[in-house]
Amino acid sequence: MIDVDKIREDFPILRRVVNGHPLIYFDNAATTQRPKQVVEAITKFYLKHNANVHRGFHTLSQEASQLFEDAHEEIAKFINAYSWDEVILVSNTTEGINLAAFTWGLKNLRPGDEILLTVMDHHSNMLPWRKVAELTKARVRYVDITDEGLLNYDALEGMLSERTKVIAFPMMSNVLGTMNDVKRIVRLAHSVGAIAVADGAQWVPHAPTNVKEMGMDFLAFSGHKMLGPTGVGILWGRRDILEGLEPFKSGGDTIKDVTLDDVIWHDLPWRFEAGTPNIAGMIGLAEAVRYLERVGMNDILEHERHLLKYTLKRLDELGDEIEVYGVKDPTTRGGIVSFNVKGLHHHIVGKALDLFGIAVRTGGHCAHPLHYRLGITGSVRASYYLYNTADEIDRFAEALRTIIALKDRLSKEPVEEVCTGG
Ligand SMILES: Cc1ncc(COP(=O)(O)O)c(C=O)c1O
Repeated sequence: MIDVDKIREDFPILRRVVNGHPLIYFDNAATTQRPKQVVEAITKFYLKHNANVHRGFHTLSQEASQLFEDAHEEIAKFINAYSWDEVILVSNTTEGINLAAFTWGLKNLRPGDEILLTVMDHHSNMLPWRKVAELTKARVRYVDITDEGLLNYDALEGMLSERTKVIAFPMMSNVLGTMNDVKRIVRLAHSVGAIAVADGAQWVPHAPTNVKEMGMDFLAFSGHKMLGPTGVGILWGRRDILEGLEPFKSGGDTIKDVTLDDVIWHDLPWRFEAGTPNIAGMIGLAEAVRYLERVGMNDILEHERHLLKYTLKRLDELGDEIEVYGVKDPTTRGGIVSFNVKGLHHHIVGKALDLFGIAVRTGGHCAHPLHYRLGITGSVRASYYLYNTADEIDRFAEALRTIIALKDRLSKEPVEEVCTGG
């Protein structure tokens, strides 16, 4: 059990009042809040150690370089990587997947090769592979979900062949919360000689991640979804694969030597970290990882599953008015619940919840194909983290009850078509 009251003290933003109500922050799948410790680590870097890395022999540059490398080490430990230099700093999951798709894909894919994606993918794990497929004349195929909301493993097995070169999949769906059987997918990929690329954006912040045990070839995740700053993410890759690849972006820091005609690329991970990196961001992310480790990833997952179970119960009490998506069994899910109030546009529900101080995300959540597969154009999504409580879920359920009671009036409200970029 985690001490949520104590944790909440580290997040001053959670004491905010929004529209006359104490803030309830249920938009963690979009981005999480940051504890004081992370903000302080970044501030301390700028106030005491700031310098560029790998460039100078002066004391500040050496301190900054050490902190920067230590941060790689901390993150490597967090995901149980073999070594710190397999951990590549990128700006977010999206960039990490683009890096893997464009470097590995352009080098290895041939016309007729197949890339398997899933219907539950985020656009960030779909579009880079689609672009690479277009450039290499490879073919993209999609693994369906079951009507319940699980990945359809039978369909996946049926699609495998010697043409399959990549399976790129979400470890956890950002809409349904489904936690996929990572080891099984990796095993299936490797059984036909394909690589397994794991989109860990929703899993790594919420559940233990062990790349050695899980066996994937690439793993991408974002700092801002795990208490860290925006603008930093990680691509982890298997050393033998990374060593055979050229940089995605090249320039300063990616080389050992350059002549007018030639270049010798740098060792890992610098080869892939072009230009001055987000040093403070990486130090902030390492602090976020230390925070998560102190709380314990198993305990965080258990806490969120408890909140999920409680939400499903409370939403069930609201009866037929609410349509909830995803599997009923909480042991195959994380703390994400997407739903619609029948007869009300999701944006109207989101706006109404904001009047109660409750922050949720509404729209397609950058997973439009999944919504179309579910027969809808959008949904309301509540997503949890270690600082959320059952009391907040009670207030959320009561706010929804009021919204349902006012449905006739609310359904006449104009729907503001906000462009959410997803
Ligand atoms: C499953 C999944 N993949 C990828 C992303 C993209 O993350 P980012 O915007 O940090 O690149 C997200 C963000 O919501 C996500 O939920």
